[in-house]
This record gives sequence, C-alpha cells and structure tokens, in this order.
Amino acid sequence: MCGIIGIVGTSTVTERLVDGLKRLEYRGYDSSGVAVLDGGKLIRQRAEGKIKGLVAKLATDHVDGQIGIAHTRWATHGVPNETNAHPHFSGRVGVVHNGIIENFLDIRKELSHRDFRTETDTEVVSHLVDEALSQGLAPKEAFSQSLKKLKGAYAFGVIIDDHPDHIYCARAGSPLALGIGEDEMYLGSDAMALAQLTTKLIYLEEGDWAILTPTSYEIYDVDDNKVERDITILTGGPAMAEKGNYRHFMLKEMYEQPETIGRTLSNYIDEYRLSANVPAELDFSEFDRVIIIACGTACYAGMVAKYWFEQVAGLAVDVDIASEFRYRKPVISPKSLFIAVSQSGETADTLAALRYCKEAGVKTAALVNVMTSTMAREADIALPINAGPEIGVASTKAFTSQLTALASLALAAGTARGMISEDDQKRMATALIKTPRHVKQALRLDKDIEAMAFEFSKSKSAFYLGRGSQVPIAFEGALKLKEISYIHAEGYAAGELKHGPIALIEDGTPVIVLAPYDRLFEKTISNLQEVASRGAHIILITDKEGASHAESMADNMIVLPTSDSFVAPIITTVAVQLLAYHTAVHLGTDVDQPRNLAKSVTVE
Ligand code: G6P
Repeated sequence: MCGIIGIVGTSTVTERLVDGLKRLEYRGYDSSGVAVLDGGKLIRQRAEGKIKGLVAKLATDHVDGQIGIAHTRWATHGVPNETNAHPHFSGRVGVVHNGIIENFLDIRKELSHRDFRTETDTEVVSHLVDEALSQGLAPKEAFSQSLKKLKGAYAFGVIIDDHPDHIYCARAGSPLALGIGEDEMYLGSDAMALAQLTTKLIYLEEGDWAILTPTSYEIYDVDDNKVERDITILTGGPAMAEKGNYRHFMLKEMYEQPETIGRTLSNYIDEYRLSANVPAELDFSEFDRVIIIACGTACYAGMVAKYWFEQVAGLAVDVDIASEFRYRKPVISPKSLFIAVSQSGETADTLAALRYCKEAGVKTAALVNVMTSTMAREADIALPINAGPEIGVASTKAFTSQLTALASLALAAGTARGMISEDDQKRMATALIKTPRHVKQALRLDKDIEAMAFEFSKSKSAFYLGRGSQVPIAFEGALKLKEISYIHAEGYAAGELKHGPIALIEDGTPVIVLAPYDRLFEKTISNLQEVASRGAHIILITDKEGASHAESMADNMIVLPTSDSFVAPIITTVAVQLLAYHTAVHLGTDVDQPRNLAKSVTVE
C-alpha cells in the first residue's frame, strides 16, 4: 500500500513533502524516504520505521531542492530496512512506488547485467527507465516505454538527474492524484496528502501517465494519447485530524461515535417522518439480491447487514471477503445490487470486486467514508458515511457508521418492498435515532472496562461468542483485540463452539459472550454455561434485562443500555472496542499504529 507524494516547483520542497508523508502514514509506516534534485543531482534521505525517524535524520543531514518525491512504506517485497526504503535510485533515475510489480523477477532477469541493490519489486522501475535513457531515449519516451513492460499495480513518481523541472508519474491499479498550484505541481496518493498544498486536483484514470513541470501538466492515457481529465475542487480544507486531549486517535475516534453516528443518520433517516431516505437511483424493489463485498472490519459490517436485509426486507444477501470473491467466478443475478463497503474506498480487492460487478452489468454502490476515493468515483451510486477522517489503524467510528448506514438501507429496502408495517418502520427509525444516545451511555462504562482489561491483558488467547447479528460483532471484537493487543482471539457463532473449538477451553480461558436480552438470549446463555462448566472465565456483555437473568453466571459483566434489538449490534460494538483498547494500553502496544498493519490496503 505505501503512500507517495511529489512536488515540482520554484521553492524548497522537503518540509512540505514530509508534511504530506505524515498525512499518508496511515498507508504504511515500515520506512520512509525523500529524494530531491539539488543542483540537478539526485540525493535522498531514508529511514527505517516511522516518519519521525526520517525527520530526525533530516534534522542532522538535510536534503532539499525545488523538486522532490517522497514515500512511506508498507513492506511487500523485502524486509523493512533502510536499503529497501524508497526512493530507489538506479543511475540517473529516482522512483517512489505504491503497488506491486508482479513481473519484477522476469524484468530483473532481463536486466541481469545491472546492479540491483534491494530486494524490492520497485527497483526494476528505476532500472528500466535508466536503461532506456542510457540507450539514448529522451526522458518522456524512456518513461512511457518502461511502463509498457510492467505488470501489476502501481502509482509512481519518477525524477531524473540533470532534468530538474520534470516529474513523471503514472497509475494502474493504485490511486494517484495530481495537484495544480501556483508555479508548482504536485502528485499524491490521495487528496489528504495534497490538501495543505492545493484545492485543485485531477484524479488520474486507470492506465494514465503524466508529466509535471512547475507551470504545466500533460496527461496521456494507456495508449499514449494526450487527454484532458476533469479538475476537482477540494472542499473541507487542509485540516489534519488532531488527537486533542486523548491519549490515542483510537480513543478519540471511539468517543466521537455518538456524533459520527448522528452524522451518518442525517444522511439516511428522516427524523420527522421516521423513515429511511436513500438516493432515488436506489430502488430496492428492483433487486432480487444484494451482494456485499468488503475486507476486514468493513466485511463484518456487511455480515451484520445480511441479518438486517433478510429480516427487515426479505432480500437475500451474499456477503464475501473481496479477495475471495474476485477470483471465484461468482454467479451474479442481473437483478443484484452490489454494495462495496470500505472506509477508505481504495482497498485493492474491494475495488476489483466492484469493477467485476460493474462489468457484469449490475447496479453498483460504494458505501465509503472518503467520498473522493476511487470506489466513490467508480460506483454507480456513492453512499457516504460521513464519519470524518479515521486515523487509528484499527477501525472504530467508521465501523459503527457503516453499521448505521447499512441498517438505514435495510430499513429503506423493507419499506420499498412492502415487507414491514408502518409501525415497524417507525420503531426501527426511532431505534436508530436513539443510537447516538445509547452509544454515549455505553462509553460511560469506559472506566469499568479499563479495570476489567487489566486481568484480561494477561491472557494468551480469548474467545468471543454471539448469536444472530451479534456473531459478526464477536468476529469484530476478536479482530480488534488481535490487531492492537496481539493477543490471539477468535470469534465464534455461540452454537458452533461445541463443534471443535470448545476443546481449547481450559481453566481461566477468557470467553466474552455478547448477549443482549433478545429472542436468542437463552440459547446464548446455554452456550455460556457449556464453556463456564469447563472452566472458562466469562465476561458477559449484555443489557439490564440480560444482566438480571444471567448475573450469577458471569465472572465479569458489562451492562449496556437497553436498546431495540435491531440496533443492538451497534451498541455491543462499543464494549468490545473499549475492551480491546484498554487491554492494548495495559500491554503498552502501539495502539494507533500496530505492528505489521496499515490502514489502507491498496495491494492484493
Ligand atoms: C485494513 C485496515 C482495517 C480495514 C480494512 C478494510 O486491513 O487495517 O481496519 O477494515 O483494511 O479497509 P477499508 O478501507 O476497505 O474499509
């Protein structure tokens, strides 16, 4: 995934490149680097680890110029050390790259006479361009001909020794935006990277490549025809999210949820009519099936939505992880609605699934947090969640906003398909409207959960159990714990545990049981007893009514406010988020940037 940025202008660039990298750090933080032309000569500074390492190096050994490229890395090929950090130099050429060059081994063989210094796939790009230059090609031809040899996904920025006013860039499979400034041009992996530099952006299309100088830009399509692309004016200003008084972005983002869920609701729920509003193009009576595709946490939101669409709207739903769906030759009914769920709107596999369904001719929607993202631009319908920038790598507020939006869509579908009475529609809309208040009440349990997390943090592994729409929240609870505390955890449908995993329960194994007082409560409690009688340490997450029935059966209880069972998965989410967060804090891990992870996964 990685983030890239470039500036070609008339004043020094390094400080602004590093500022842009900080905005891109969510894409990876294994290493970072910056390269500039100083007096026409390529120089660079690189550092292993987070961007603060690069900043420290630049403080003692500064490099600067009026043209430069920079990179923050999430390692794919080659360990995350300084040698493998971008920018890579070969001869006269420096390159930063986001993506994977799939045929890099073939190209390395072809160029075996050259001196490869890294383990990366990217290095073949600088070698290809430099090889073409040394055969006498002009930079433009050297760059465009090199592109033709590449297979895989990429967004590049290239600068060339003794060629000080030009950045060459290209995209295929990975996102890339150009920025237009006053006597300056920019490139960046996303709008946020460029937000402090300009409001005028151009999103390159698949296969496009471009040449930037301080005062001009030229864009070419995949067949090398010169093309015009639309200019988008960025609104919302350059503000980068701040932590404020919170210890971590993740904590701040969890505390924002009453407000962010409220913002999502304002897009989809009419508070006066107590009904759901969806864009006119989304006529749910047209569809016989919904296909929800996503990755990670977003996929768990999709799994909850399956329960909602089926129960509320009588609409069949397929939910799948994008990396499987795209290669499975799925059977797609022409009357399907495809929904990609993605915080970033850039996840490579989810984007590929969206394109697959577009080609199959079905209506596509993208439920995203970033409305300037590729998915929002490519889907027939872009559905916002409006959760605001999410910086913590472990998704929290985006997840509850995805749930809120999907519940609203299910409600709209139920109404459009005549599957629910007006009373039920109003009851469910009211339940959604009350959700921000209930989430606020749930957040008040923070201190109790923090205390509970102290013992929990000594565990080696844990199980999360639920039934019905709580199953995906059990998955999400386990994922949150794994991601940020590195404790092994598994989520299970409570009824499934006895088919194998129960063999792992021994004295003191923590089992977190998600059981609001609903029609499945008693069944879940039976499963709780099955593990309790085998020595499990039970943390029961329930509501007041549930607590009064099951108090004696749990070692610890988290008693959430009572909500309509329709929205209960949103409320239980808060408890599993807080439990994972405080466990990680007790363990002293890097909560906002956990090891090996990145927020946006733009490679397969
Ligand atoms: C990464 C993130 C997860 C996220 C997943 C999907 O793995 O660490 O938090 O759920 O990607 O990302 P998306 O932007 O498509 O929601």
